[in-house]
Parts: sequence; C-alpha cells; structure tokens
Amino acid sequence: MSNQKETLVQVRDLSVTYHTRLGPLSAVDHVSFDIYKGEILGVVGESGCGKSTMGKALMRLIMPPGEISSGHIIFDGEDVMQYDQKQLRDFRGRRISMIFQDPMTSLNPVQRVDEHLIEAIQVHEPQTPVEAALRRARTLIEKLGIQKERLRDYPHQLSGGMRQRVMIGLGLVLNADLIVADEATTSLDVIVEAKLLDEFKKLRDEFNLTILMITHNIALIAQIADRIMVMYAGQVAEIGDVTEVFDHPRHPYTEGLLRSVPNIELDEREELYKMGGEPPNLSRPPAGCRFHPRCAQAMPICAQREPELTEISPGRFVHCWLYQDHPQEVAHA
Ligand SMILES: Nc1ncnc2c1ncn2[C@@H]1O[C@H](COP(=O)(O)OP(=O)(O)OP(=O)(O)O)[C@@H](O)[C@H]1O
Ligand SMILES: [Mg+2]
Repeated sequence: MSNQKETLVQVRDLSVTYHTRLGPLSAVDHVSFDIYKGEILGVVGESGCGKSTMGKALMRLIMPPGEISSGHIIFDGEDVMQYDQKQLRDFRGRRISMIFQDPMTSLNPVQRVDEHLIEAIQVHEPQTPVEAALRRARTLIEKLGIQKERLRDYPHQLSGGMRQRVMIGLGLVLNADLIVADEATTSLDVIVEAKLLDEFKKLRDEFNLTILMITHNIALIAQIADRIMVMYAGQVAEIGDVTEVFDHPRHPYTEGLLRSVPNIELDEREELYKMGGEPPNLSRPPAGCRFHPRCAQAMPICAQREPELTEISPGRFVHCWLYQDHPQEVAHA
C-alpha cells in the first residue's frame, strides 16, 4: 500500500458500557484506531469481544442500557460525539452505513425490493426522482448478482442469500463514505460468500468505498482486507497490514487465533489447535492485561498492569507487555 494514506475516521479512547443487572459491563474499552480512505479494514476476534458494539458505536447507534462512556469519533475532521439528532440522521446513511447480518428483521415484509431501495435513496436525497432512483437500484442490484426482475419481489420471495444481497445493496445505494459490514456475508454458503466478498472489493475500487468488515471468517478476510484489527475482550489486541499480521502475528492472542483457523492443507495427523480457556466475563475483566489468564507467555507484570497499545513498527500496533519496556518497580517486584 502507498504511504500516502488519508485518514477518514479517527477513533480515540472509545468505550462502551452496558448497564446490566449485574453491574456495568465494559464491552468496548478505550479503543483507538484509524480507518484510512479507500481501505478494507477487517475486524476479527472471538464471539463477545465487542466487534458489533464497536461498529454500532461508530454510528452512535448504542441504545440503553448501553452508552458510549468515553472517547471521540472524528469522521472526516468532525467529532460525531458532538452531533445533535438532526446531524446524526444525516450522518447515518449518507456518510456511514451499516450492513447487518439478519435481513429478515431489517427488511419490511410488505415492501418490494425496489421500494426498499428507492425509499433508502429518497429519504436522504429527496430531490432524486423515482425513475433515477430506480435506475440506480437496478444497476446496483445487478452488480450484486440479482436479476433486475427480482426488484419487484417481496423479501419472502427471495432466498436467504438474495435477501442478504439486498441488504448489502441497501448499505451501498447511498454511496456512503464508510460501510460497516457486520457479518454481512456470514449466513451465505461459502461459494456465494467468497463471490460477494470479491464483489465488495470491486465495489470498493469502483466507488472508492471504505469498508470496516467485521467477520468470523478469518481465512476470507486475509484475502480481501488491506489491514486487520484483532479485538480481545473489548480491546484492540493488534492492528497491522493484513499480510504482516498473518505472516508474523505479534500478540499471543493473534497467534492463537490464527492457529485455530482450519486449513485445508492440514495434515490428517495434525490436530486443529484449540486455544485454552475462555474469554473473560466483561462485567469483571481480569486485572492487568485482559488476556493474561490464557496467555502462555504471561509475565508477572501482565497480571498487574495493563500494557499500552504501542506502535512497534510503522502502522503496527500491539497491546502486549512483550513489546513494551516494563516499569522498573513492577519488573523487580
Ligand atoms: N444490549 C446489550 N445489553 C447488555 N450487554 C450487551 C448488549 N449487547 C452486547 N452486550 C455484551 O457486550 C459484549 C460484546 O458484545 P458484541 O455483540 O459487541 O460482541 P461481538 O464481538 O460482536 O460478538 P459476536 O462475534 O458473537 O457477534 C458481550 O459481552 C455482550 O454480552
Ligand atoms: Mg457481533
């Protein structure tokens, strides 16, 4: 990638707390990262590590009992945390749009596919005539591999995979600057998923989209993402160029995660690696590094103090004591 990366979003010190009956749950904890214009940034990590919460927080879509408890989201130079409701409505859809996993809950059963798309366009661009909106919808839907005749269908008449593609279309139709795709292709079969992810990449090139892609499919993200962010227990474990992170994972969690990915070339005598332990309960996360109870390389300091997210080489950030000087007093304790 070129060195002239232009930053679209700066996330700084972002925290999200859910106020549950068992007390506050820290789902996203002081997370900082940048999203560059035109990139696909993959976000991976075990279930419950805060990926969806982080994605929603970028749109300020955290609903009670959750709240953004700290931080800033600087989008193209403006702090989204300062937006009022009207500014937020405009921001969502036009600047940032989110594609969710479950199409049936987001599509209106009595609205045809074309009506969904036209409405999405006209809510944000009231001046666009219906015919123009329809033309745009048609072009997009064909790019996503759905015949334009299906635009007259109702959601229940489509297969699950087609519905998901309509959802993706709804996310793309406004040409938002940033697309947050949260497991947008997970429910599809592997062949369709691979095709669609490839399509994402083409659309990115064509419309200069920026995509934050949250997914369980680490093998596919390796092929389409430019950079990858690994999350653990609500925090950033590691960020870097995708090939660097895959070839040389630095954080012991990243290493474990990558070793857990099934590999088709796995020798039949080899057993798939399973990482020991469980992610912590985020209502009572462990002291120090949140990963230390599962970490084979844990040192005394790891249980005592949290490391900082440190840039160990240009663009490579790791949240681990292995890459940071230990404070004297604790190291000798
Ligand atoms: N509405 C809510 N109320 C209370 N706790 C919540 C709520 N939504 C999420 N959480 C908690 O916040 C933490 C992070 O959840 P989140 O859904 O963001 O994780 P995730 O990484 O997207 O997981 P998955 O891979 O399963 O989608 C979890 O501990 C979850 O139980
Ligand atoms: Mg999720």
